[in-house]
Amino acid sequence: MGNEVKKIRVGLIFGGRSGEHEVSIASAMSVYNALDKSRYEVILIGIDKTGRWLLPDPKVLLAHAGNPMKIQLGQMTGSYGLAPSGGATQMIAMEASAPAPGHFDIVLPIMHGTFGEDGTIQGMLEMAQIPYVGSGVLGSALGMDKEVAARLFNAAGIPTVPSMCVRKHEFLNDKAAVEDSLVKAFDFPFFVKPANAGSSVGVHKVKSPEGIRAALEDAFSFDLKIIVQNAIDARELEVSVLGNDTPKASIVGEIVPKHEFYSYEAKYLDDNGAELKIPADNLPEEVREKARAWAVQAFLTLECKGLARVDFFMDRKTGALYLNEINTIPGFTSISMYPKLWEASGLPYAQLLDELIRLALDDSKKRRELRVTYA
Ligand SMILES: Nc1ncnc2c1ncn2[C@@H]1O[C@H](COP(=O)(O)OP(=O)(O)O)[C@@H](O)[C@H]1O
Ligand SMILES: [Mg+2]
Repeated sequence: MGNEVKKIRVGLIFGGRSGEHEVSIASAMSVYNALDKSRYEVILIGIDKTGRWLLPDPKVLLAHAGNPMKIQLGQMTGSYGLAPSGGATQMIAMEASAPAPGHFDIVLPIMHGTFGEDGTIQGMLEMAQIPYVGSGVLGSALGMDKEVAARLFNAAGIPTVPSMCVRKHEFLNDKAAVEDSLVKAFDFPFFVKPANAGSSVGVHKVKSPEGIRAALEDAFSFDLKIIVQNAIDARELEVSVLGNDTPKASIVGEIVPKHEFYSYEAKYLDDNGAELKIPADNLPEEVREKARAWAVQAFLTLECKGLARVDFFMDRKTGALYLNEINTIPGFTSISMYPKLWEASGLPYAQLLDELIRLALDDSKKRRELRVTYA
């Protein structure tokens, strides 16, 4: 007693208003289980699909350890809000009867996609002066928008699959004209995807003119902006990046989807939907090194921090490497590619979490030391 080390108070935020709500719950459960409870006091904060903030009992999560998809945050009660009061680093209860969760040393926003990975929750945490793991507002927002990110990657000399951007207002204005322009610009099959989404939500492989309308309607139901690009017969390579100012790249992994492409079903609904190869085998050494170098360069180009998984396509015919996308809050279950690549690079899951928390606290300390007033 007496000289017990004070525990770090961690807020683990998950769920959210996103097509990747369920995936986030699965990631958060793995993180919760792995965090060393002798060092961290972990408070779970679930955001339901309507945006309500709840404090679920860890037992509710653990009761569904085998199937996180069964967790229904909507059925819980108690609504909270983050108070952006100067220096308070607190979350206060919005209902007087609810207990206030109090101060946080750090938050882990384990939320994928909209309102989690896109800079919005990061902005809220900035206003509340609560340190958090991962990229800040800028890096998160840039990483989320595939269209803006591609422009920055190209400016940095990193190639992406050539794509066309279509806005929803253009589509609604003249659907036939938009479809015609796609038929002229692309060969079948081609890919249609929301600019801001993830987990393959709203992603379609269009094989014939008859399939265009439905693909566009669905993609536009998720975003006001979509990108269209030729389908390339590619190997899908992934690299994990970890660090702040001098980030490191992991070894290169490969996803081998068993479906026609790496769809939502292949990712989450089919246990055998894809094979993870760690490391990717039969890969030319120069491709391996290029992927690792571009992963770090992409991370720095978008001003990312903490962690990101950078995904590539390697054209099977030409051998050309393209950067597909960067994920600033990658899937984080214990069997997900991001932590698996680090595990294979010598950093086990629980230690990876320690390192992410250390990096976040270090960055937040440096930023707190900046002057915010002049006169
Ligand atoms: N241009 C493309 N050529 C071939 N496959 C693609 C292309 N674009 C996307 N895909 C397939 O669709 C999947 C999801 O697309 P991606 O751009 O990674 O979006 P998300 O952010 O939803 O993961 C990819 O993993 C890949 O299997
Ligand atoms: Mg992807």
